[in-house]
Amino acid sequence: MCGIIAAVAQRNVQGILLEGLKRLEYRGYDSAGMTVLHEGALTRHRAVGKVAALADCLEGAPLPGTAGIAHTRWATHGKPTEANAHPHHSGDTVAVVHNGIIENFEALKRELEAGGHTFTSQTDTEVIAHRLADVLAGGVGLFDAVKQTVDTLGGAYALGVMSPQEPGIVVGVRQGSPLVVGVGIDEAFLASDPLALLQVTDRFIYLEEGDMVELGAGGSVHIVDRDGRAVERPVRIFEYADGVASKGDYRHFMLKEIFEQPKVISAALEGRLGEHSVPAESFGPEAPALFAQTRQIQIIACGTSYHAGLVARYWLERYAGVPVQVEVASEFRYRHPVVAEGTLFVTLSQSGETADTLAALRFAKGLGYVGSLAICNVPGSSLVRESDIALMTHAGPEIGVASTKAFTTQLVALMLLTLSLGKCKTTPNGEHAEIVAALKTLPAICRQVLALDGEIEALSQAFAEKHHALFLGRGAHFPIALEGALKLKEISYIHAEGYPAGELKHGPLALVDSEMPVISVAPNDDLLEKLKSNLQEVRARGGQLFVFADESVGIDDSEDDVTVLHLPRVHEALAPLLYTLPLQLLSYHVAVLKGTDVDQPRNLAKSVTVE
Ligand code: G6P
Repeated sequence: MCGIIAAVAQRNVQGILLEGLKRLEYRGYDSAGMTVLHEGALTRHRAVGKVAALADCLEGAPLPGTAGIAHTRWATHGKPTEANAHPHHSGDTVAVVHNGIIENFEALKRELEAGGHTFTSQTDTEVIAHRLADVLAGGVGLFDAVKQTVDTLGGAYALGVMSPQEPGIVVGVRQGSPLVVGVGIDEAFLASDPLALLQVTDRFIYLEEGDMVELGAGGSVHIVDRDGRAVERPVRIFEYADGVASKGDYRHFMLKEIFEQPKVISAALEGRLGEHSVPAESFGPEAPALFAQTRQIQIIACGTSYHAGLVARYWLERYAGVPVQVEVASEFRYRHPVVAEGTLFVTLSQSGETADTLAALRFAKGLGYVGSLAICNVPGSSLVRESDIALMTHAGPEIGVASTKAFTTQLVALMLLTLSLGKCKTTPNGEHAEIVAALKTLPAICRQVLALDGEIEALSQAFAEKHHALFLGRGAHFPIALEGALKLKEISYIHAEGYPAGELKHGPLALVDSEMPVISVAPNDDLLEKLKSNLQEVRARGGQLFVFADESVGIDDSEDDVTVLHLPRVHEALAPLLYTLPLQLLSYHVAVLKGTDVDQPRNLAKSVTVE
């Protein structure tokens, strides 16, 4: 989604804003722009494409000044063009950057046009600028003008606003889209994400819904809540060191993040495992009481996080005996769900800001769930703050749009939930203790799988010219097949589908021929023999098979229609986690071969903060 950054300082802010935009670029990257107040006037550059294009403009014609706002765009209303890029101005009066969607913009636009305003873009944002200009023309100060303007807006938004009428201040608003204040020494900042500001501060104020903030001279920060009362919000120290937003020696963030998995899986486990079990207290002091009341679970998520939820259903039902439903947030929030007594509402989200997931949580609050648990990667995110309890996945910032380490650490968290709930519901059994022991060795086994990178890269050659691919799995590996297909389509633009292998004969088999590579994961579990029969069905139709199989699984690969890559032994329960890794690497290498933009695939955004 769009990214906002703003600064009020005693030095030139262009460099700070530009660096912030680069760090926000993972959110949106179809165009970017910046407005700085210079000698009492708004000066602006906007450019289509990546932040680098804006940087080129700025090199030719710098924007000096000590207060400014800037934006990376992910188009919702209007194509990625210079005219649609932010900041949007109303004449010389006011400049606005916006993340989110103004739902009543058409009605507002008609009113403003009737009042004499000429629109220069197709965006919903421009109505904010013109309305603000009207209010300012009535002699109202900038802060109050923003307040009066947002009172007329419907939808979700975060804003950054500045005007030459009050030089040296920037006003921000948070209503449904994330916004943080960065606290500097005698300077203050705004951003959609703390990552954008780590080069200038590690101290942040997370604004609450409905908050408005004025950043002023000398680093002053004045916040009022939705009722207009002045409030103090806590300043929190960001826990990651700077350097996290750099690729290091890796060619892409995605590859770096894939290789970070052993480390972050250890971090996700740290301090949460008992000797043979997982104490409910790992989920916080309120968790034991909440888990004791939990009879069933509703999991809600989007995208890759949804796939983690699908895996968890297999785990929670088998190892904890708890019935589970899993649904994508955008569907759940508009259903009329019947909530069974004792249902725990669990959201999964890397960012904690996904609009649909957040809306689903808010919707769920009135429906009689026993409580809500967020499994999330971003401390201080909206989802975490609005849930009864939260478990952090500790994956560290994930920059690649295609989620990798966030997914596997979510799976770790969900296995912890399984074992913890299982302990509350059933007498701890030997199997739980075995899984706990296996979790402790998991990072080392992941390292062994990542060492297969060279072989997987070689295998990726077979996909570069293909237009379609089919991923198969059974049981808890069906969602892994879905995730494998999602990764491939997201970053290589090859059409890919994930199927439960048993469904093959009910449709997709019709597609199988030598042009359709079929990828399957084959751990050594109860379903192996069934899976092998399904794979025979593919071979019999001339399909090209690629199988990631347990080292003990014999699959005849003497013919050249089958390629098998063996993975080390892992406890059956943890196999979905391990088998994710080769699929991530496969997608990555195929995308590199195809020359796509791996970290910022076309049309996608990392943090989807609009509906
Ligand atoms: C976007 C991202 C996906 C992500 C999904 C859910 O679509 O591109 O990678 O899985 O949002 O995001 P969340 O932050 O809620 O996990």
